Amino acid sequence: MNRGKLRMFLVVFLAFSMHMSLYSQNKSIYKDRTRSESDRVGDLIRQMTLAEKIGQMNQLNFEKITTGIEEKVKTGEVGSLLNVTNPVEVNKLQEIALKQSRLGIPLIIGRDVIHGLHTIFPIPLGQAASFDDELVKNAAHIAAVESREKGINWTFAPMLDISRDPRWGRIAESLGEDPYLAGRLGAAMVRGFQGNTLSDPTSIAACLKHFVGYGAAEGGRDYNSTNIPIHLLRNVYLEPFRKSVEAGAATVMTSFNDNDGVPASGNSFLLKQVLRKEWKFDGFVVSDWASMSEMIPHGFAADRKEVASLSANAGLDMEMVSQTYIQNLSQLVKEGKVPIQTIDELVKNILRIKFRMGLFENPFAPIGDPGKTYSQAHLAAAREAAIKSAVLLKNNNQLLPLDKGKKIAVIGPMADAPHDQMGTWVFDGQKEHTITPVKALQTEYTHINYVYEPALAFSRDKNKARFEKAVEAAKQADVAVVFLGEESILSGEAHSLSNINLIGVQSDLLAALQAAHKPVVLVVMAGRPLTIERDLPNADAVLYNFHPGTMGGPAILDLLYGKANPGGKLPVTFVREVGQIPMYYNHNNTGRPGPKNPMKLDDIPLEAKQSSLGNSSFYLDSGRDPLFPFGYGLSYTSFVYTDLKLSADKIQPGQKLAVSVTLTNSGKYEGTEIAQLYVQDIVGSIARPVKELKGYQKISLQPGESKKVIFELSAGDLAFYGLDLIKKSEKGLFNVWVGGNSDSGLKSSFSLQ
Ligand code: BGC
Repeated sequence: MNRGKLRMFLVVFLAFSMHMSLYSQNKSIYKDRTRSESDRVGDLIRQMTLAEKIGQMNQLNFEKITTGIEEKVKTGEVGSLLNVTNPVEVNKLQEIALKQSRLGIPLIIGRDVIHGLHTIFPIPLGQAASFDDELVKNAAHIAAVESREKGINWTFAPMLDISRDPRWGRIAESLGEDPYLAGRLGAAMVRGFQGNTLSDPTSIAACLKHFVGYGAAEGGRDYNSTNIPIHLLRNVYLEPFRKSVEAGAATVMTSFNDNDGVPASGNSFLLKQVLRKEWKFDGFVVSDWASMSEMIPHGFAADRKEVASLSANAGLDMEMVSQTYIQNLSQLVKEGKVPIQTIDELVKNILRIKFRMGLFENPFAPIGDPGKTYSQAHLAAAREAAIKSAVLLKNNNQLLPLDKGKKIAVIGPMADAPHDQMGTWVFDGQKEHTITPVKALQTEYTHINYVYEPALAFSRDKNKARFEKAVEAAKQADVAVVFLGEESILSGEAHSLSNINLIGVQSDLLAALQAAHKPVVLVVMAGRPLTIERDLPNADAVLYNFHPGTMGGPAILDLLYGKANPGGKLPVTFVREVGQIPMYYNHNNTGRPGPKNPMKLDDIPLEAKQSSLGNSSFYLDSGRDPLFPFGYGLSYTSFVYTDLKLSADKIQPGQKLAVSVTLTNSGKYEGTEIAQLYVQDIVGSIARPVKELKGYQKISLQPGESKKVIFELSAGDLAFYGLDLIKKSEKGLFNVWVGGNSDSGLKSSFSLQ
């Protein structure tokens, strides 16, 4: 080789090896955990084929391990699976994804872990009654720990649908009717699921659902249309989502409903304008189960190809189970109907979260680890949650707490219903682990003298044959404790009811027990606020539990016997009659608000003149007010609010107002009060709610003890979307209340200048 040729060879060789080393560096950027998230996402997307990109957007439901599903993971046709719960199977599939698929992209494994995986906490509506951010956060953390043991790394929770209709079965899964409460607790749940970092081995990704408006389904009929006008959407329905996005939620799920004609899975205003542009959300959006293909029966898309085009162009990243993306997107890209840049953006959103979750480094379940599922600590936390989620609605003559020396008759179908006590959305909680009230009497409260007569086998049972026995049992005892409510199947998804009285003949059972002439304690376990007005006269005390979960039994006994003092408050309004629905505390005023005590139907004189009752807003038969207002709940002790003070009577934008009261425990027991701050913006550019919750604090006090409770209110807290649809606070006069529920409290006012 002459020198010229040698030089030439060296130059080519050097260039080639530089190219190769750059290539191999580039190739491994996305696998290099020291590189930035955006470098890794960018590097990976550059190497992906269109088919691999579309595969990431495809989520399938897992039924069992087959070569079919293994093949799909290997070829990269699937980015996520839901409902794989066997850790061995999870690991097998992740191994294939990491080692056998071309680019080694791990799967994200989803499951509905709604109120616990195995250790079941109270249903979310119950947790909301605790008004306890820490408790809710801890419950979510425990659910995450148990999930990761199974290889589940993504939950479809929290559900943030504002729920003002108890006929809707999914009210059980909600955090109630109020956007402030749902927002605070939703954010707490996100923090609990996701921990400090998503890549922590005890964290799972949260999913805010259902975006948006699903809880406002017409008539409470699940999946139905909603008609939420823009101001209400902005000020109420979107608010808890905004707060939970701010808390760092990794994913969001679109809802089934169409709002004003536009199904959420094809709504670019929601996904692009609100979520991405205004809120700067950088996680990914998944559809609900087939909510994309359901745009065909909605009459919004003609066929599956149009579905895929509508959703992709609206900004929906991952499709749950209906597979219109995997079948149509590549053709749609070829036809120029979905730009490749759009696909890249959607896939990047998914990859970003997979990197953030640390799945490229370790997507595996820790096989062989004894784990913490059903650990003593988890059960103790579930018990505490059930205690703090119970609401005392009535307690005549201080019947509760019960005297341990008295004999009780335990009656009713919910006294020993280990499956139903757990509530809706329980796939993994085992009833063998549930402790019912009867089991707690047998195992823990063994010193209590009791007789047990269920009277009805289950809540819908209509057989009254054993009523006599129940009355006999009550006669033999000092007090009857009657456990009524709903089986878990009567609430939850697709389980709406048009009649929400105690189901079956349970009210008749309660009434029949009057014949025993003994004090009656009614303990309810239900998935919704039932219409119990007709039952109240037949019970001296009422303890209301939204399905309390695995440890509901001992929690209820702790409360009945005064080991714990009830402190929960209602996260939803309790209506008197189903016909009052919708009824919620933060409604707008009418021009003709009804009187507090309107004339009763039977007192209306015959042939009374048309306008003799006053032309105002109320029902002739059920009046103006609910049975129990939002925020209501009693305690064995009593609390007195005095001395409401405002640090100023005027505030400027940017300033803060301190609102303080003195809270005194004026009763005999140590107790915890949930002090609530409400505000009314008296005049606005649009009509404003009569009251809005703006703060709450849990205060524990010994008998006779007083504490000063201080709330801070800033001008920003008063901001809302007014007529011009720009979020800001408007100057003017405000009323402010601090009290123990939405219908009471000390009142003052201030102005915003
Ligand atoms: C529900 C979602 C749930 C999904 C997956 C749907 O039917 O609406 O809330 O996460 O199924 O199970």
